Amino acid sequence: AKDRWLTGKKVLITAGPTQEKIDPVRYFTNPSSGKMGFALATAAAHLGAEVTLIAGPVSLETPAGVNRVDVVSAEDMFREVDLRFNEHDIIIKSAAVADYRPKLTYEDKMKKQPGNYRLEMERTTDILQTIGQKKTHQFLLGFAAETVDAIEYGKKKMKKKNLDAIVVNNVKEDGAGFGHDTNTATYIDRQLQEHPLPKMPKTQLADEIFRLMKHDITGDVH
Ligand code: PMT
Repeated sequence: AKDRWLTGKKVLITAGPTQEKIDPVRYFTNPSSGKMGFALATAAAHLGAEVTLIAGPVSLETPAGVNRVDVVSAEDMFREVDLRFNEHDIIIKSAAVADYRPKLTYEDKMKKQPGNYRLEMERTTDILQTIGQKKTHQFLLGFAAETVDAIEYGKKKMKKKNLDAIVVNNVKEDGAGFGHDTNTATYIDRQLQEHPLPKMPKTQLADEIFRLMKHDITGDVH
């Protein structure tokens, strides 16, 4: 029989990049395609969950049965997550949220000037950290995209942001991380135990992540 262990659970997933506007024709962003987050949303819906997907600007079809909310900036994403986090049982933050945004956004297109141009950036709200401080019953899964000492940073992020588990991507490996259909990652559980997951399609990795999460949440190893 099909495992529907998420039946009756509400799962909130963020996916994709954010765009931080400089002027009407320019913005800062990153190469996240949303594939990882959309694969997680699809997997959660198959497992019986009621899924809300908060998506940055990506060109992907909404998975069947998933409630999608489109956002543009880190601030938009924060607002939409903060609004809903209380009513959700599981929150997964696979979005690649900008850490900085331009301090000033220009109303009109900036004109080219001779010489160099300096732009001041300010920090965006750390969504995961903010909800980590407020969480009560929720299971909070974060992601980490690091290029050096990834596992160590992942464990530090888990503690600092009060997460229940974290998925650390090997973003420097071929066919892993941003944009690819495949990914290589390590799931770190509540006991800080590492579960390395070899390169596989993101759709399959999503299933593996829920299998490990089920163990964390229910203690069930199957
Ligand atoms: O979208 P794809 O092309 O499929 O690529 C998938 C992915 C590589 C983007 C994804 O697997 C991934 O790793 N997502 C998180 C990337 C990231 O921003 O990692 P980070 O180490 O900078 O952030 C750590 C965590 O804090 C993340 O869960 C992030 O969502 C969260 N965060 C970060 C900044 C911020 N202002 N608010 C946040 O909530």
